[in-house]
This record gives sequence, C-alpha cells and structure tokens, in this order.
Amino acid sequence: MVSSVHPLRLGVNLDHIATLRNARGEDHPALRRAVEVALKAGVDGITLHLREDRRHIVDSDLHELSPLLALHGTPLNLEIAATEEMLAIARTISPPWVCLVPEKRAELTTEGGLDLHNAQSGFLPTCCTTLAEIGVQVSLFVDPSVQALEAAADLKAPAVEVHTGPWCNAVRLHGLNSAPAQAEWHKLVTSAEACERLGLAFHAGHGLRYDTAQRIASLANLREVNIGQFIVGEAIFDGLEIAIRKMRAALDAGRAGV
Ligand code: PXP
Repeated sequence: MVSSVHPLRLGVNLDHIATLRNARGEDHPALRRAVEVALKAGVDGITLHLREDRRHIVDSDLHELSPLLALHGTPLNLEIAATEEMLAIARTISPPWVCLVPEKRAELTTEGGLDLHNAQSGFLPTCCTTLAEIGVQVSLFVDPSVQALEAAADLKAPAVEVHTGPWCNAVRLHGLNSAPAQAEWHKLVTSAEACERLGLAFHAGHGLRYDTAQRIASLANLREVNIGQFIVGEAIFDGLEIAIRKMRAALDAGRAGV
C-alpha cells in the first residue's frame, strides 16, 4: 500500500508552441512568451523535448529559456534520447531535470517507454551516471510494468515517468470506467505501489486531459505530471493561462479526495 501523500507538481510541455512557430519558420508564437504565461499561471516546471530531428524545440530555445527558468526558480525538465549528442547538450545546459525517453525518427510522439531489457549494456547507464555526477536529476520514461520499474531502480535513477498513454487512449475511446480503461488503470496503480517499494519518485505523463489528470491525482505518491498536447490544444479555445489553471484545478480536485 502507498502511505504518504506528496505535493503534486504540474509540469507543462510547450513543444507544440514551437511546432506552430516552426510551421512558418518565423518567430511567432514566441516560446518565451508562452513560458512567461505558464509561469504566471503557476506551473511547477516546464518540459521541453529536444528531438534529434529538431522538429519543434531547437537548441537556441534551450539556450534562451534555461536561464530564464533558472532566474524564476522553476525547473526545466529537458526531455532527450540517451545519445552522445544529447548527453553533451544536457551537460552544457545542465537543467535541474532530464527525462530520458526512447526516440524513433518517424513517430508522431513518444510511443512507448524505454526498453530496459538490456539496460545495463547500452548507453543508458553512462547517461544516468554522467547526469547524476553533474547534479542533474534523472527520470526514466517507462511503461507501467513492474519489470521496467525494477530495471529503472537498478540504474539508480531517482525518478521514473510512467507512460499514461495507453490508459488515456482507453479512457478516450471507451470511457473512464470501461473495462479496457480499468485494465490499464490497474497497471498504473501497481506501478505506483512498485515505485513506493523501490524508492523511486513517481512521475506520470502522456495523453493526460482534465478527466484523466483528475483521476491520476488520486494516486497518493504521484509527485509530478507532465502534460503538453491537451493544454496547448485547449489554449486555442481558452488561452494558455486559463488552460493551465483548469488543469491545476483538475489535479487539486483529484488530490482532495485522497
Ligand atoms: N512525457 C513524455 C516523456 C513525453 O514524451 C510527452 C510527449 O512529448 C509528454 C510527457 C507529454 O505528453 P502529452 O503531450 O500527450 O501531454
């Protein structure tokens, strides 16, 4: 059983502001302005995914925004693949957090968690130790499986971000209380318990909307959620500040019932 209730941080992923900006190859909408609005809305962190193909966030975004966030005291969570190129960039930027994710060139978004079957033999252990040595906290993006969480603990990562995409898809397609959604939810509950047992800080993300954010906030040891696509989409209708505040309210409502 999970015993302690942790404060729940909301990290907002602003990649798709950059996607829109890059569609014209110009400077609007400016990412900096989006970060300033997100800070005003009270976010606890900003996540930026520097992909190998630079399809949204580009290197200059990191150089511009990392000092701004540091000045504000709001952590940057840099999402990267475990490659030599990305590790070198992370060493230069030295963000408070790095989330290591798998990356496939042709995918629309991060499709699954890291493959940790042979985690000790690839570049992942080097990434984890190098980042730890320079004081960067690492979270590993993993599927909601106990085996993956045990492998993450073996890598001595302080945190994991558990992939909520399959659950969110089941909720979207079949409803929050449907059998497919319940089956995926069970994996998240089991993951929360495994994190507690393994001493891993439990983060979650991917595909979360207001309803699923409220539900997942009921997991008492969840410390952080990272949400992008839905908030940026809602910003079209409500504005970014209101969309973030509504997401915060959904999390708080879910937490209130714990
Ligand atoms: N966490 C990770 C590791 C991701 O790759 C993404 C997508 O970039 C997110 C969270 C946010 O997912 P979404 O945009 O679906 O909210």
